[in-house]
Amino acid sequence: MKLVKTKQEVRDIVKEWRKQGLTVGFVPTMGYLHEGHASLIDASSKNNDRTVVSIFVNPMQFSPNEDLESYPRDIVHDSKVCEEHGADLIFNPEPEEMYNDMFCSYVDMDVLTKELCGLSRPIHFRGVCTVVSKLFNIVKPDNAYFGQKDAQQLAVIKRMVEDLDMDIKINGCPIVREADGLAKSSRNTYLSPEERQAALILSKTIAVGRELVKNGEKDAKKIVSQMIKNIETEPLARIDYVKIVDALTMQQIDNLDRPALCAMAVYIGKTRLIDNFEVV
Ligand code: PAF
Repeated sequence: MKLVKTKQEVRDIVKEWRKQGLTVGFVPTMGYLHEGHASLIDASSKNNDRTVVSIFVNPMQFSPNEDLESYPRDIVHDSKVCEEHGADLIFNPEPEEMYNDMFCSYVDMDVLTKELCGLSRPIHFRGVCTVVSKLFNIVKPDNAYFGQKDAQQLAVIKRMVEDLDMDIKINGCPIVREADGLAKSSRNTYLSPEERQAALILSKTIAVGRELVKNGEKDAKKIVSQMIKNIETEPLARIDYVKIVDALTMQQIDNLDRPALCAMAVYIGKTRLIDNFEVV
């Protein structure tokens, strides 16, 4: 496995693989890799001849009041995870390699990005779409892998690839959880022991929602209000949103009469965590 810092090195290596007729899978990440990322790398290595992992904390997707500076970074640990899970190449650029002084082109998306996380993080998805488009143009993969934990991001990337005719298959992979249910996230490291315990309210509330759906409840408002009541039992939790949306458009729905996503963002102390479940 090799680690490179420049776009040109990635292009040269991938070109060589292409000459040999090899397929390429791609896992874009911001590093501080956990088992969730590892499952994406596993899926890519299993289904492609070669796997590229990008590790880049993308400044463009953070608002000035967010955690860009404190976002955890550990390239030594990340390289080990990539190696162990069968990656062939890590692309770990500096911000200047991705955005030069003249940079002024963006990929912006309407509709899907105006709901859920897009409401509290208005510039986030422009940053995500722009950097993922750039990474796709650099790596030119056959397949790319994204986690279902960031369900809105996955829907946005699928829409972008279709809208902009990018010839890349987007593969969503299941949420990976800790033994006690908390969805794996690089941001879990921000939690104090007390907050870590309180954070279980997210997965417990997902279970409440799932149970209602399993028992045949179709009224989105009723499901959401039960879930909100449950979160409110945890004093350290502050709700950003709990919503049920159409799985494709990310627009709120009243009835579970089509594939849907039940998604939430909840602050535990200062840490904003997300979780979701799909209703098919
Ligand atoms: O999900 C992430 O880690 C990031 O949003 C991504 C897709 C790597 C873009 O920076």
